[in-house]
Amino acid sequence: MLDLLITHASLPDGRCDMSVAVQGGRIVEVAPGLHAPAHETVDAQGQLLSPPFCDSHFHMDATLSYGLPRVNHSGTLLEGIALWGELKPMLTEEALVERALTYCDWAVAKGLLAIRSHVDTSDPSLLPVRAMLEVKNRVAPYLDLQLVAFPQDGVLRTPGGLDNLQRALDLGVDVVGGIPHFERTMGEGAASVKLLCELAAERGLPVDMHCDESDDPLSRHIETLALETQRLGLQGRVNGSHLTSMHSMDNYYASKLIPLIAESGVSAVANPLINITLQGRHDTYPKRRGMTRVPELMAAGVTVAFGHDCVMDPWYSLGSGDMLEVAHMGLHVAQITSQAGMRQCFDAVTVNAARVMGLDGYGIDVGRDASFVLLQARDPVEAIRLRATRLKVWRKGVLLAQTAPSAAQLSLPGRMGSTAFMPAKAAGG
Ligand code: FE2
Repeated sequence: MLDLLITHASLPDGRCDMSVAVQGGRIVEVAPGLHAPAHETVDAQGQLLSPPFCDSHFHMDATLSYGLPRVNHSGTLLEGIALWGELKPMLTEEALVERALTYCDWAVAKGLLAIRSHVDTSDPSLLPVRAMLEVKNRVAPYLDLQLVAFPQDGVLRTPGGLDNLQRALDLGVDVVGGIPHFERTMGEGAASVKLLCELAAERGLPVDMHCDESDDPLSRHIETLALETQRLGLQGRVNGSHLTSMHSMDNYYASKLIPLIAESGVSAVANPLINITLQGRHDTYPKRRGMTRVPELMAAGVTVAFGHDCVMDPWYSLGSGDMLEVAHMGLHVAQITSQAGMRQCFDAVTVNAARVMGLDGYGIDVGRDASFVLLQARDPVEAIRLRATRLKVWRKGVLLAQTAPSAAQLSLPGRMGSTAFMPAKAAGG
């Protein structure tokens, strides 16, 4: 007797009318037209069954703090950092935990079951670190939370910055972070990349750095990160987050840099909602978009994911944990409009993000975790178009969340009984 059998599902790779059989929290068979006794059978009715959404770049210690103690008037990254500095002395562990748990509730409801969160290590008290480790522990039964030791104010620029970061790693933080573009000079930024990569190599940890998050076309920290990755043999364990300066770089230099990133096995995370609102703020017109070169990186074979980065915090006043909104914005900002390209945008918030995070057991295949989301859409492009309702969310075979299908009942002359918001393919689609 199976625990769960899902029938008539469409899968993100294009297979239709598939059945997925679950036993003991794992997928035991994926095949068309399975019939087997099960404790529960769910007819997907042709709708999309996707592995869960993953957010490979987030700041859970700052989330849901919008307006505390004031809002970001200029909308810039630098005012956001200054505002976070004003808020930090007022933080309590209890409030941080409570806000993060609330966000994780939102995430699960949206089928977002894995999050890599940077956590600020700048303050010697390590209050945000202790709070996020508590959250990681509390949500472990339903959400994978990875933590990155993030020296928000610069590991070299902050007195004791390296010591604080190392103490955070000692407490159990999973990944080494950095912010080279916020160090005092380009030289100190490069030195911080080298130092932090050496620290990760010594400890056998992955690296995920905020890197070149500016409009400066001459910012070169991703180059250093790629080189250090090769020098220290860290291929496959290093991610460059943001990389917004690549948007403004000279094309000749970018044509040399992108193959170096690919050769180094460094992945990239763009944060479309945040990049489009924070970058280009010094421009008049035309205003740069400020997102990294997503299609070019993907074409070179680099694993590219999209992150949410911020939700209702000093840097961004909106957001709801909806990774389809992130994919939607990424698609628009990067002008990725082909069918294959739009599917890659879906991958950027699912399988690519899982690869960045190094998740085991991810994906709809035999032997993997029975973790998936049933969407009110027939394929990944429709899911992005509709920011589709998450009808059901399972983790390891356990149903965690359900949402009623979206459908507006209309009362229009001559159109009685029609509905809106239902998935529908365009003619010939
Ligand atoms: Fe970030």
